[in-house]
Amino acid sequence: MQIAIDGPASAGKSTIAKLIAKKLNFVYCDTGAMYRSVTLLAKNHNVDYGDSSSILKLMNSHRISFVNKEDGQHVMLDDEDISDEIRTEEITNNVSQVSAIKKVREELVEMQRNMANNINIVMDGRDIGTTVLPDADVKIFLIASVLVRAKRRYKENIERGINTPLEKLKEEIAARDYKDSHREISPLVKANDAIEVDSSNMNIEQVVDKITKIINENK
Ligand code: C5P
Repeated sequence: MQIAIDGPASAGKSTIAKLIAKKLNFVYCDTGAMYRSVTLLAKNHNVDYGDSSSILKLMNSHRISFVNKEDGQHVMLDDEDISDEIRTEEITNNVSQVSAIKKVREELVEMQRNMANNINIVMDGRDIGTTVLPDADVKIFLIASVLVRAKRRYKENIERGINTPLEKLKEEIAARDYKDSHREISPLVKANDAIEVDSSNMNIEQVVDKITKIINENK
C-alpha cells in the first residue's frame, strides 16, 4: 500500500507521516530530506545553487540514504549523518532553487519510486501524489494557513535555540510556497484525487486520527 502526503512548507507533513507510518507499521520516506541533502552537497562544495551540471556531478559521486535508529530516521550522506545540517536556515531558504532543477528531480524521483516498490510506505513531499506515485492508494493534501505554519516553525525554532522573528518566518514560508508551486517541473499542486486536510485548527493527534480514518476508508 502506498500513501502520499503532499502539501506546502511547514504544514506538519513529516510529523504526521512519521506517526502514521509508525501506527500502521509502514516504511516512512521524507522526500524533502533528499532535496535538502542535495542542497547541502552544493553548499559543502561551494557550488552555486543554480549550477545544475556541477550539482548533478556531485549527486553522482555521493550517496544519500536513510537509516532507522531508536530515536527515529536519520539522513546519511555517504557515511556522514546530516540529519541536523539539512535543517539549517541556509538550506531551508535555498532548497527550492535546487529542487527546481529538472535532472535533480528526475534522479530523486527514480530513487523514490524504487524505495516505494513492493512495500507499504508513507511518503511525504510536494509531488508524490501527482508525479512520484500517481497510483498511490491514498493521497492526502495537508494544508494550514501561513500564520499557523509560521507559528509552529517559530515554536520549533525556539526549542532549538533559534530566534527568528515570526514576521520573517511568515515571509520565508510564503516565498518557499511560491517557488515550489510556480516551478516548471512537478510544481506543488493538489492531485485531482487527493483529499485535502486543513490542519489550521487541529492538533497533531486530531490530524493523525483524521488521516488514519481516511486510510481505513480507502483500503
Ligand atoms: O518537506 P521539506 O520542507 O523538507 O522540503 C524541502 C524542499 O524540498 C521543498 O521546499 C521543495 O523545494 C523540495 N521538495 C520538492 N519535492 C518534494 C519534496 C520536497 O521539490 N517531493
